[in-house]
Amino acid sequence: MNNQNKNTADPNFENEVRTGLGGFPKRLSSKFIYDKKGDRLFQQIMEMPTYYLYDCEYEILELYSKQLSELFCKKGETVNLIDLGAGDGKKTKILLRYMVSNDFDFVYKPIDISETILEELKDSLKKELPTLKVEPEAGEYFQVLNHLKTYNKTKKVIMVLGSNIGNLLHPRAIEFMSSLKDALNPDDLLFMGFDQKKNPQTILDAYNDKEGITAAFNRNILYRINDEFDANFEPDKFTHWEVYNPETGTAKSYLVATEEMNVKIKNLNMDVHFEKWETIHVEISQKYTDAVVKWLADESGLSITDSFTDSREYYRNYIFVPKS
Ligand code: AVJ
Repeated sequence: MNNQNKNTADPNFENEVRTGLGGFPKRLSSKFIYDKKGDRLFQQIMEMPTYYLYDCEYEILELYSKQLSELFCKKGETVNLIDLGAGDGKKTKILLRYMVSNDFDFVYKPIDISETILEELKDSLKKELPTLKVEPEAGEYFQVLNHLKTYNKTKKVIMVLGSNIGNLLHPRAIEFMSSLKDALNPDDLLFMGFDQKKNPQTILDAYNDKEGITAAFNRNILYRINDEFDANFEPDKFTHWEVYNPETGTAKSYLVATEEMNVKIKNLNMDVHFEKWETIHVEISQKYTDAVVKWLADESGLSITDSFTDSREYYRNYIFVPKS
């Protein structure tokens, strides 16, 4: 490959690399891990037995699909079911199957940054649930949210599954939930998953698998920088390190340089120096308690009307409505 970027480089990613690797301590946001390879690695993570988050939310949707469907869509009501960060839709499909076979009147709107993944989801739904109305939309959460506000007449149920909110520090989580709230009319609902505090070892095991899948997932951000900005990172010279603080509920992952290095990021004209054992902070995965979720809701102008947990009480999905 020559100097030309393989993909049209994302200006947000460029900005992230400039500020995140130009400052100290170094950091890169986990949202840039997800290219094709990153999506695939995350799918592998969800299949790991130690990554309990997926299984817990799956169980919740199975246990409560009837109750949830009836909450989301009353008899005689038409609903837009908006799935923010739908991904492969495996979990949502549990609910969709129930709602389709019980004649609920709704349109499914999966939203994701990845167009590829949305195409795949649409195709698989056409086969599995041919009568389901599907209107996918590719884009970033905030972009899409802005124009969702214009969906004024039809009732909306916005779903944010997977504890994706855990990637945000509390102030940004409040911003995010506030903008969700702004997209809601008084009768609309918000349904979100929040991974809960639990035995710290269980949490560490979820983000520190022996197979090294999580490590590969995190290192993918360095491969992306190599591909998209013509850089010469040697990702294997960075080791994955996970910490969990049981007091704050914050799990953080780092890539740690195992030797002193200089990295050239040609297309950004950057030379990045790493001391031996210097860190790049890549991801936070926040764990919650009911009290913290209630506080976040309060700060965002939302109230909790219901919640659902799994048999181990590892994870909880909450229903929010705009505060009246
Ligand atoms: C998709 C943000 C919920 O933080 O648990 C999984 C991403 N990172 N393993 C999480 C992730 C490492 C995941 N979220």
